[in-house]
Order: sequence, then C-alpha cells, then structure tokens
Amino acid sequence: MNGRLSDAWLEELRSRVSLEEVVSEYVPLKQKGRRFWGCCPFHNEKTPSFSVDSEAQMYYCFGCHKGGTVINFVMDMERMEFMDAVRLLADRAHMALPERSAPSGQAAVNRDERERMYEANRAAARYYHDLLWTQEGAEALNYLYGRGLNDSDIRRFGLGASPKGWDGLLSHLEAMGFEAALLEKAGLVVRRDDRYFDMFRGRVMFPIINAQGRVLGFGGRAMGDAQPKYLNTAETPVFNKRQNLYGLNFARKERSVGHLVLVEGYMDTVSLRKYGVQGVVATLGTALTEEQARLMKRYAPEVWISYDGDAAGQKAALRALDILDGQNIPTRVIDYPGGMDPDDYIKANGLSGFEALPRHDSTSYRMIRAKDGLNLSEQEGMTQYALRCCGILKNVNSPIEMENHLRRLVNETGYDREILLRQIGATSQATPRQAPRQRVAVEKAATGVEKAERELISMLAAGLIPGDLLKPGDFTDADHCALAQWLLSGKPASAYVEGVDDDAARQKIMQALNYAPLPTDREKALEEAEECLRTIQQDRDSQRSEQIRQQINSATAEQKAEMYRRIMASMKDNED
Ligand code: UTP
Ligand code: MN
Repeated sequence: MNGRLSDAWLEELRSRVSLEEVVSEYVPLKQKGRRFWGCCPFHNEKTPSFSVDSEAQMYYCFGCHKGGTVINFVMDMERMEFMDAVRLLADRAHMALPERSAPSGQAAVNRDERERMYEANRAAARYYHDLLWTQEGAEALNYLYGRGLNDSDIRRFGLGASPKGWDGLLSHLEAMGFEAALLEKAGLVVRRDDRYFDMFRGRVMFPIINAQGRVLGFGGRAMGDAQPKYLNTAETPVFNKRQNLYGLNFARKERSVGHLVLVEGYMDTVSLRKYGVQGVVATLGTALTEEQARLMKRYAPEVWISYDGDAAGQKAALRALDILDGQNIPTRVIDYPGGMDPDDYIKANGLSGFEALPRHDSTSYRMIRAKDGLNLSEQEGMTQYALRCCGILKNVNSPIEMENHLRRLVNETGYDREILLRQIGATSQATPRQAPRQRVAVEKAATGVEKAERELISMLAAGLIPGDLLKPGDFTDADHCALAQWLLSGKPASAYVEGVDDDAARQKIMQALNYAPLPTDREKALEEAEECLRTIQQDRDSQRSEQIRQQINSATAEQKAEMYRRIMASMKDNED
C-alpha cells in the first residue's frame, strides 16, 4: 500500500472517527460551544489553549498554532507516518483500506517520495548488513567482534559495514531502480560537482529504526581515527534527530518495564541490551530535546538517565534533568564510577553490576554534582556547597522529601536545620521558582493585512460569508491565496490541511483558519469582510504610491519631465 488514497475515502475516514474521542484519549477535554478545550499536548501550558472544533473536525492550539485533522493528530502524537496513522484509524472505524486508488495532488506526491526514502533506507540497511559477511566487510565485522558483539547481536541490531569505495551503495541502489536525486534527499549519497557518491564509506553502520519499524537513517562509526568518530545521516524529510531516539523499535515492546534507560551512544544501547537491560534508548548525537522528552513520556512513566561517568556526561545529565523536569517526567540518574560509560561498565561488571548501581533521585543527583569543583575540607568550600544545595532544595515540593534531603545536608555540612531552612526560604524569595519553559516561539506582531486575510479565510471556512464576495487575488500572502482558492472551490479545509507535511506551513494555515473572535451572524460578517478587504486595498494603495514616490525620487530630470507629460496627457484624455 503506498499512500494513494482518494480525497473521498479520506473524507469518509475523517467523518467516521470522532476527533474529540481520539484526542480525549490523550488530553482531557471540556466542551464549550462547538469547541472542546484542553491543555495542549504539544507544548507546556497550565491554562487550556488547545481546542477541537467538532464541526470542522480539526484541532488547533491558540498558543503554539499546531493543528490539523485526526490523521495529523495521530501522526504527531504517535510519531507515525501518514499511512500508519491511516491504517490505525481505519481499523478503529472498521473501514477497509482501498486496494489502490488515484493519487490526490501534491500531498500524495510528497507522501510517495517519503515512502520511497524509507524503501531506500531499508534497502541500504540490508546492503550494509549483507556486506558485513563478505570480504569487503571483514574489517568491520572484526571491529564488532573486538567490541564484544557476536553474530546474533549483530543481526539483532541490523549492524552493517559501508564499503570503502566511492559508490558501492549508490550503484547497488541505482540498479534497484532508485534515483540518485532521491538517495541524495534521503542522505544516503552526497553530490559534488554533479557527481554523486556514497555518504558513508568504510564505517560500521548502525541503522536508526523508529517505533514503527521504519529505517530513518544511520549512524556510522569510524574504525580508525577518522573524523568524525560518528557520522550521522543529515536532517532529511524522514529523519529529524531532535525528534527521534535510537532503540525505540525495541523499547516500544517493553512498556511493562516501567522506565526507559537513556544513554548517550549507539554502542551503549547495543551493549546494555546485549547484557539484558531493557528499555534502553539513546539520543542521536545532540543534547536531549524537549521533543525527545515528550516522546519518551509515551513509552514509559519514568526515565533513568544513564550518561557517561565523565565530566561531560555529568554536565549533560544535569541538562537532561532540566529538560525532563520541564516535562514533569519522574527521573533517576545512574552515575558510573571512574568516568566509565555504560558500555565499559557493563562489560566489566555484568547485568548484576548494573542493577547494583545506585539510582539517584533528581534532587540527590543535583546535590552530588553541587560538590564538583569544591574543596569540602575547607570552610569556604563547605559554605559554597550548602548554598548550592539550598538553591536546589527550594524546588522540592514534597515535605517528606525535603526532610530527607535536609537531614542529609545537616549531617554533611554541620549547619543547623533552622539556618538551612531560612537560607532555602531566602533563596526562593530571591529567585522565584522558574515556570517550565514555554516552547511557543515569540511571534512578530501580525500586520493589519495579515490579520485581515486570516479573518477573511476563517469567515469563509466557517461559512459566514458567501464565496462570491472574494477571489484568490484578494489575498496578498501566497499561502493564504492558495488556501482561499481551495476553499472557494468548495472543498473542505481539512483535506487541504492534512496534506501539508511541513510543520511551519501547517501552523500558518491553521492560524489563518482559526481567527478569533469571529462575528456571530452573517450580517456582521459581511460588514467585517468589507472592512478586511478595505484594509488590504489600502495597504496595496499605499505600497503603490510608495513605489511611485521612489520612482520619482530616483528619476532623472528628463524622466520626470516625461512622467509629467504623461500625467497631463491622461488628465486631458479624462476630460474628453
Ligand atoms: P561517544 O564519543 O561517547 O561515543 O559519543 P560512544 O558512544 O562511547 O562510542 P564508542 O563506544 O566510542 O564507539 C556518544 C554519542 O554521541 C554521538 C553518537 O551518537 C555517539 O554514540 N556522536 C559522537 C556523534 O554523533 N558524533 C561524534 O563524532 C561523536
Ligand atoms: Mn561514550
């Protein structure tokens, strides 16, 4: 099945599943008028700005502008591809997928292209893996053996070898019918001076597979000292390293474990899993992002940070703690002794050694780190330590937890608990507890024209004004113009929105479709529409006169004389 569904079939799917019912499974909703309201699952907020429009069957967040149809919602929440979301929803609605139907415009073309990229990635993974067992892959295979993996580990993780030459993968995939341009888009080959060659050469290959079993990209480790140590697939239409995690294809089947173990590296993931640790996932060469934190939340209620035990890993662990706290995810931290990483540690100490490591709660871990760089045998160091800890403790809400940490601090520092409590109080007054950071981008204020165009589109989509009042040319913004054209042809907004893959583009469209407040009756709407059109026209007029003013300013005396003659002539024509 390859993404070719008719508009009519999709329309039926949208009408058969209830959007508010699907959304309710993730977000509690309250009805107010024709909209249902709840806290947005895509950004942090305390007062609901996320809404489901039951008539239009679309959701929209007035805070972060995310929005779309039920299919977009499932794609976003479950990080699913279009067809996977469709399958899931069709199942729910007891609808059979059509065998094959006509393509439906640009959206289908984009979808098909992404499907082809997945196919290319899958074929590449297979090629790299198969190469491992040939003469060309011998060095990589030995490297993996040298790192303690056996054939069955290697198969389980689909590890592979990229050939040393320039175009082993390229010619293999071209022979399978993939075009070089598509492979370039998928990050498998690169182009220089009109020649294509393989992105990964002479490296050990780790395929990155998402929870739906799709190959998104690769991490390629150098075997010698080649730089970089790990080369990762660039951002592509199917791979965003800020929004994915390595190992989710396994973790999705391990929900019963009750937590995820978050590591820094590919090898850490493979190695811990080899020894029997479950729920292990890794970031993809960047610091942990909020998107990844939210993604983890869907697979387990708790996260154990298991970063390298060196200074860099410890610093990164503190940053990850902040991110996870920001998403209200309960967290524990494993601190590996002697600067070891999880891979080194479990090789030396086995699964039982791993299980015996203390798992610090986030406050305790922060207090441990507060000692870094201080000399606690001197008063100065001890004072600093106590101050740092009081700063940490001001964020503890539970009185019992507070008491436990406080007792420890009294023991360690020798300060009276009353003194420490006063210090904690002083700190919390001086620096009010920070609200979780909002992901909402600071928007530049919308101009009058932008607002007018949005209001027109919203009124049109809501059926408040008749289509013959408008034409696409009334809209200055190209995206608004295209959307207006669609709506004016009588097609539903949902079908348009659904096909827009790009986040920013879809947000802009959703914003235009959700202008508020809208007039309540048609008569009011007509007045508003005329006002909007006037605003747009006035802006065009003033731009036009500004243009003319500039032409005049930069004109030579001769050109000015000519302009003057023309104006006089046209005035004369008008008199006649
Ligand atoms: P490390 O340098 O800790 O590597 O980077 P590692 O995982 O311990 O790997 P081995 O054991 O030496 O093989 C941790 C992670 O950071 C990313 C990779 O995802 C890596 O697994 N990284 C590191 C890069 O993306 N590029 C690099 O050059 C280095
Ligand atoms: Mn490491």
